[in-house]
Amino acid sequence: MLFSALLVLGICLIPVHSTPAGEHLGSPLLQQCFEEAKKVVDDAYKYSREESLRRVRREMVRPHDALRLLKQPRGETRSAVRSADYMAQTLRLLHERVHHVHKRSLNATDLLTPEDLRTLADISGCSARVSLPSCRTTPNLNEYRTATSVCNNLNDPRRGASNTPFSRWLPAEYEDGISQPRGWNKNRTFNNFMLPLVRQVSNNILNTTDAGVVNDTEYTHMVTLFGQWNDHDLTFTPFSPSIRSFSNGINCDESCDRTEPCIPIAIPLGDPRLPSGPDSCIPAFRSAPVCGTGNSAYNFGGEPNKREQINALTAFLDLGQVYGSDEKLALFLRDLENDGGLLRVNTEFRDNSRELLPFNPLQANMCATRKRITNDTTVREVPCFIAGDVRVDENIALTSIHTLFMREHNRLARLLKRLNPQWDSETLYQEARKIMGAYTQVFVFRDYLPHIVGVDAMRRQLGRYPGYNANVDPSISNVFATAAYRFAHLAIQPFLARLDANYREDPRFPSVPLFKAFFTPWRVVFEGGIDPLLRGLIGRPAKLNTQDHMMVDALREKLFQFVMHLALDLGSLNMERGRDHGLPGYNAWRKLCGLSQPSNQAQLAQVLNNNDLARRLLQLYGTADNIDIWMGGVAEPFVRGGRVGPLFSCLIATQFQRIRQGDRLWYENPGVFTQAQRSALSRASISSIICDNTGITSVPTDAFSVLSNRNRLVRCSRLRSLNLSAWRERACTGETARPRSAGPQGAQGPIGPPGPPGKLILNSNATQPQSAFSVLLGDYNPSSEKIIHFHQVLYNKQNLYSTNTGLFTCVIPGVYQFSFLSISIVRVGDVDLKVNSKLALRGFKVYQGGNHLSSGDTLLQLEAGDKVWLEASSGTTGLSTKSYFSGHMLFPDRT
Ligand code: HEM
Ligand SMILES: *[C@@H]1O[C@H](CO)[C@@H](O)[C@H](O)[C@H]1NC(C)=O
Ligand SMILES: *[C@@H]1O[C@H](CO)[C@@H](O)[C@H](O)[C@H]1NC(C)=O
Ligand SMILES: *[C@@H]1O[C@H](CO)[C@@H](O)[C@H](O)[C@H]1NC(C)=O
Ligand SMILES: *[C@@H]1O[C@H](CO)[C@@H](O)[C@H](O)[C@H]1NC(C)=O
Ligand SMILES: *[C@@H]1O[C@H](CO)[C@@H](O)[C@H](O)[C@H]1NC(C)=O
Ligand SMILES: *[C@@H]1O[C@H](CO)[C@@H](O)[C@H](O)[C@H]1NC(C)=O
Repeated sequence: MLFSALLVLGICLIPVHSTPAGEHLGSPLLQQCFEEAKKVVDDAYKYSREESLRRVRREMVRPHDALRLLKQPRGETRSAVRSADYMAQTLRLLHERVHHVHKRSLNATDLLTPEDLRTLADISGCSARVSLPSCRTTPNLNEYRTATSVCNNLNDPRRGASNTPFSRWLPAEYEDGISQPRGWNKNRTFNNFMLPLVRQVSNNILNTTDAGVVNDTEYTHMVTLFGQWNDHDLTFTPFSPSIRSFSNGINCDESCDRTEPCIPIAIPLGDPRLPSGPDSCIPAFRSAPVCGTGNSAYNFGGEPNKREQINALTAFLDLGQVYGSDEKLALFLRDLENDGGLLRVNTEFRDNSRELLPFNPLQANMCATRKRITNDTTVREVPCFIAGDVRVDENIALTSIHTLFMREHNRLARLLKRLNPQWDSETLYQEARKIMGAYTQVFVFRDYLPHIVGVDAMRRQLGRYPGYNANVDPSISNVFATAAYRFAHLAIQPFLARLDANYREDPRFPSVPLFKAFFTPWRVVFEGGIDPLLRGLIGRPAKLNTQDHMMVDALREKLFQFVMHLALDLGSLNMERGRDHGLPGYNAWRKLCGLSQPSNQAQLAQVLNNNDLARRLLQLYGTADNIDIWMGGVAEPFVRGGRVGPLFSCLIATQFQRIRQGDRLWYENPGVFTQAQRSALSRASISSIICDNTGITSVPTDAFSVLSNRNRLVRCSRLRSLNLSAWRERACTGETARPRSAGPQGAQGPIGPPGPPGKLILNSNATQPQSAFSVLLGDYNPSSEKIIHFHQVLYNKQNLYSTNTGLFTCVIPGVYQFSFLSISIVRVGDVDLKVNSKLALRGFKVYQGGNHLSSGDTLLQLEAGDKVWLEASSGTTGLSTKSYFSGHMLFPDRT
């Protein structure tokens, strides 16, 4: 399917880049370089495509080919990568030529006028990548997401959209400061130590045998696979399509040379499985750069900028893995032959009369693994499936979840059509898609994340919905995709269980070793469908990540091994990828999260609660500063209630906090759903979706918890599926099931807690004097003093809030809005908003998710000199550091 995706979407649908008439580069040298670069890139792509086709046809797909094909950019992503390659190669050639002519390092910027650069950006396609689309012409912007999520943020339309750069929470650290991966030159030292080979770390730290696997006593394997499913909604980092180096034509898999885009993984001496030696390495490929970053940027105004990577998916929880994250794929996945708003399904096969995913229409098929795996040349092969995310065939448990949610879309669309026969195909599709998006938000926040990041991070960062904030950047951070969210690679069982109706091993189709479950859609088609696999996920435990049994051999020694070829090692890949992306080391991230930075073995042993592991890590790395972030993160003991350590808990919680708060169409944002719809959605469950779309007749109520006395199998007939009555459009009364769009957007205020719905601030010219503050309690010493002194300033430009006295002083008379929230795990007294010692508003108290919350939001007319503060009647002891207080002027008084 990777191929067909490539063929169908990558080639046919992508307009060929051509130099627009009339655009010329001023310098003939530059023009020449561009044309040559274009040829180099186009030839490399063409060669790579043909070579890949040959390998697939000859069934010569080696494990690294499988990975490369899995990470091929398609559609829009391919255009983005191609543009970046044109740009980078043009500038590389220019640099070479100039250097050649002048025999000294001449700054290529000197040869590039600003107009030249602009034109180059235009003809390479790079300008188009950053041009800001107009959101005014996009239909139903307040009702439905676009496939790409362009225009989710109206102020900055590409924020969180697909095919934009990953964001950085810490600056990248490359070996040359610009682009070279850490460890590119073996001799190079960091903090006085050389980086160990990633494969050496993998061998020494990650290795375990299948017999050593420890089962999770609380969580099911569904928790693990749901993580992968969810990751495929959020992150996909494409490789360059080129299989060989642009500069010297070397094929990445025929040499261990480090030459862009080849980043071979060296094999240490004495490797237990792999042959070591100078010509022995695991071939690997760098992630593609973003236009104008990395080396090419040497030439931008003499100001080199660091290489960034592309996220091909939207940052939002929108089930892009079902629907596709670019318009063309989204359209391709729809069934346009009827007006039911359905997704396309398989026309050749069914699963006990239920729908299967469509096949990818292609000639060359890398999922033709059946003959090889069964060693039977007479069996029928099937193509790969196609879905919104290209990795749908990566393993069959993941494929089953894809199939399940595709069916749920179609089930919803059919029911909606019955409820609202007047709805057209587009409305049915979008309304079903919107419900599905809300499902995923409910499942991730209510059911999944608490099991991962633990109770404290949930409380600190992911509790009550704080409202939409257009200033919050939801985009996925590089460290999340490249390290933190890969934590669950250590929670994968070596077998995918297939169970019968009684949740016992299915005698006809027994459990499959994981390494025989990669790219095997034929198992879904011919071996009992998705029901046994789903039962296996909800009826069997996850692997527990323990410090002495980390990664199973299926991933570390047999990844994508179909027959005998040199298999990949996922642990090595994760670490190598971190270096490829220039992620700083372990301690830098600990610091970012406000955690200690161990500087010797004793301290590291304390952080890891394990002296032996600390010793073995320092033997490899020398210093904890250098530990690859993924390795350090997964080595930490779990936080309370979670399945990651403090570092990953912080990084993952922060990412999801942003995804929620920066999403204009988040399901709880007022106006997105009606109250009745929201309350129906809040009762949805994965178990009932399984019941509604499979032949499974009994399920655990909680699909994420292992079966026990508290989580027994219940009959499906006892579970309620989503009640759609709130979606009925009552045509006669003119009432609509779809909420009306919110009022016009107000002006952008300082970063802070949610403001009022836009309407209040209609007149919003920025010339108006500003008066605002937004503060968090932050670090403080609990005291019995009543006035709350907020210490951590988010915004206080006019310096009107004093962190010393805790008072806000009004200087411009006018109408102000204040809001506050105090959070505490212990009961505290009243929290009052005072104006000049008079009570203005007493906080509204609720007990929620283990927290005592007290909140308020009010408008006040203030005179110059008025003082406003918050008082806690029983002092500040017990208040969470995330408690906040903010205020801003809405209108100044007319004078
Ligand atoms: C059978 C299970 C799985 C297999 C075989 C698998 C395999 C892989 C592979 C080969 C990569 C690319 C490595 C590289 O070259 O950088 C990858 C990336 C990744 N994996 Fe997994 N994985 C599995 C399960 C999971 C799970 C359970 C999670 C998370 C909860 C997860 C999260 C990720 C993430 C976030 C990435 C980065 C994706 C990107 O940005 O492109 N994976 N995985
Ligand atoms: C690395 O070290 C070796 C041996 O010390 C030396 O021969 C080689 O030139 C060094 N390579 C680089 C790139 O500095
Ligand atoms: C893991 O590797 C170490 C060091 O190579 C070795 O001593 C140990 O036996 C291995 N453990 C397993 C379970 O293979
Ligand atoms: C390139 O030239 C510009 C202007 O001549 C200069 O400011 C800049 O520092 C130079 N950059 C490099 C990398 O030499
Ligand atoms: C596959 O079948 C052939 C012929 O029946 C046999 O020689 C070979 O050993 C088998 N290979 C495996 C891996 O079972
Ligand atoms: C762990 O769970 C698997 C799947 O249920 C089972 O086959 C295995 O025996 C269990 N291992 C242990 C040590 O209990
Ligand atoms: C806001 O500024 C714009 C452009 O400066 C101006 O045309 C408009 O009249 C102003 N609106 C108000 C209400 O002051």
